[in-house]
Amino acid sequence: MKEIKIETTLQVFDDLSELPKEVENLMRKAKKAREKAYAPYSNFYVGVAIRLDNQEIITGSNQENASYPSGLCAERTAIYYAGAKYPENKMLTMAIIAGSKTNKTSSPIPPCGACRQAIAEYEVKQNSPIEIYFMGETGKIAKSDSLANLLPLVFDKSAL
Ligand code: THU
Repeated sequence: MKEIKIETTLQVFDDLSELPKEVENLMRKAKKAREKAYAPYSNFYVGVAIRLDNQEIITGSNQENASYPSGLCAERTAIYYAGAKYPENKMLTMAIIAGSKTNKTSSPIPPCGACRQAIAEYEVKQNSPIEIYFMGETGKIAKSDSLANLLPLVFDKSAL
């Protein structure tokens, strides 16, 4: 038997002004997109902005449904739209801002497991990392250089 230790590294920025200008701008677009979230059931609002290598910015927000599992997270709304509209382009950076209307949070909110799996698919497809910045309603912003940091032991096409 041997033990395998998995480590991950994130960077943490104190506030938006500490981010590179381009990323600060992307996070502001995510914040704007969050206003369009449709979340009457959870009251949890998420906005996403993705910058592509053609400099297009794709935004998305969570879209809920009375049949709860039919709704979709903001990250997948945005990433599937980017994949559908610009299949030849690489995704460079994703900015995520999330928070509940009822329970204000100031700590960074990472993407859920299902969204990590969806983002991982595009990292594998484009064979280059997607930077992920995520934050709560306010406060610090966490950065992962690649989705792979957030999803060790990924399941991908190499297993098929
Ligand atoms: N949600 C997202 O949009 N992204 C995540 O990564 C976590 C959860 C949404 C789904 C649902 O509309 C609400 O937040 C509460 O789970």
